[in-house]
Amino acid sequence: MTLTLDAAPARAAATRFDGFTNIHKAIRAALAETLVLAGRVDVEDAADRAATIQAVRWLLTFCAMHLAKEDTYIHPAMEARRHGSTAARAAEHREHEEAFLHLASAVEAFEARPSAASAAFLYRGLAVFMAENLLHMEQEESTDNAVLWDAYSDAELAEIEGRIVASLKPEEAAEAFRVMLPALAPTERAQLLSGIRAKAPAPVFEMLSGVALSVLPAPAAARLRADLA
Ligand SMILES: [Fe+2]
Repeated sequence: MTLTLDAAPARAAATRFDGFTNIHKAIRAALAETLVLAGRVDVEDAADRAATIQAVRWLLTFCAMHLAKEDTYIHPAMEARRHGSTAARAAEHREHEEAFLHLASAVEAFEARPSAASAAFLYRGLAVFMAENLLHMEQEESTDNAVLWDAYSDAELAEIEGRIVASLKPEEAAEAFRVMLPALAPTERAQLLSGIRAKAPAPVFEMLSGVALSVLPAPAAARLRADLA
């Protein structure tokens, strides 16, 4: 795939509802952090291996959950008003599901027979998956957002996003927050939590803001507290 970067989608995202930005920042951060962990794993250190294996398995679960939400909520909405508009991205989702299986077996091989070779196989597999997923998410944020913005109002898109958020179990929302919040800009963190405070029951806001404040470095947590006050 050759990608021509275009400033227009990023400009449009600043004025339209964009349900991809926050979760994709979380996924990009998780991909990058996990790739670095896998690259520097000490194959002779059982604790380091276990932490790396756990991180890769968590990443695969997180990416699979995100893919399922797009398949269930975003693609049907696109197809409902722009028939055929999801063909390319849906095919990429099926390829990602194959990549999940490939990476799961690479993790299993590394766990069963830790060596420089099995670590390199896992690391390079993760790198290729990250490369494909980065391009995929860029297409969603440019091409697919253009379809959504043309076919739906911002209020309708916010309603779709609300259904995705409502479908998350509390522990799934907390897990997503744990990786998402450190990956967002300060203003995005404040906007996200203000929106939850306005719409969700108070205990949900308390739980998620607690997760947010616990995962942020002290200065970022102080800024978030101030922005929400
Ligand atoms: Fe996707």
